[in-house]
Amino acid sequence: MAPGLSASCLTLRASNRVSLNERRAATLVVHKSTKDIRKLYNKFARDYDRVEGTFDVLSGVGRRRDRWFRRARGRVLEVGAGTARTIEAYSRADLVVLTELSDKMLRRASERVNDTRIVERIRFLQCDMQLLPFADRSFDTVVSSQTLCTVTDPLRALQEMGRVCKRDGIILLSEHGLSDRHTRVNALLERYTDLSVTHLGCHPNRDPETLALAAGLHVVQVQRSLLGIFIWMELAP
Ligand SMILES: C[S@@+](CC[C@H](N)C(=O)[O-])C[C@H]1O[C@@H](n2cnc3c(N)ncnc32)[C@H](O)[C@@H]1O
Repeated sequence: MAPGLSASCLTLRASNRVSLNERRAATLVVHKSTKDIRKLYNKFARDYDRVEGTFDVLSGVGRRRDRWFRRARGRVLEVGAGTARTIEAYSRADLVVLTELSDKMLRRASERVNDTRIVERIRFLQCDMQLLPFADRSFDTVVSSQTLCTVTDPLRALQEMGRVCKRDGIILLSEHGLSDRHTRVNALLERYTDLSVTHLGCHPNRDPETLALAAGLHVVQVQRSLLGIFIWMELAP
């Protein structure tokens, strides 16, 4: 069996109607540099919660993401934490390190966190998730929420998540990307990718599941919703 491929992944593959090659083709295209992404999110920071919050409520994605991340425990690292929308899910954590590229997003995160019950267990760090400043195997849980669509090199970012996660730790992702079941939906996502990258730095035509496998991570479980576009993954290093 190829490295990073578990039996459960192969089962998942067999049931997919959109071919792996078709999805892989869109995976590694780079449109914006890390510097561009930082600038973009510094600008977006003021309106981010309003825009994303509305979508979260209407789609039900916000509630589901909170449930998904409630399993975070021990020493928790969140990469690309944005404005810390996930913070309420971390009540079982001993320590939460929120990292983010954009200083303006991080400032919003610290404002939000001041109101939470676990404020003393939270640390902030501005850093690049493609080059995490942490020792190997230093976290029990590594979390990412909707960062793989934005980060310049998602493969590198996933490899870093795998490196800093303890051997018996978990990596929890809440992401979006190509559908595993609807070719027409994927054609639409491809069509709007340029527009989305230009204004939001977001690539809706990436494939988090394929990327996770390519990064050598083990897929423990995958759930999908909203036409197969939204994806919740539990990975192991
Ligand atoms: C769509 S937002 C998601 C924010 C947050 N995780 C959430 O769910 O609301 C993508 C975030 O990834 C961050 N990001 C992009 N590239 C990054 C990088 N190289 N290192 C760290 N964060 C990055 C952006 O600054 C932005 O805050």
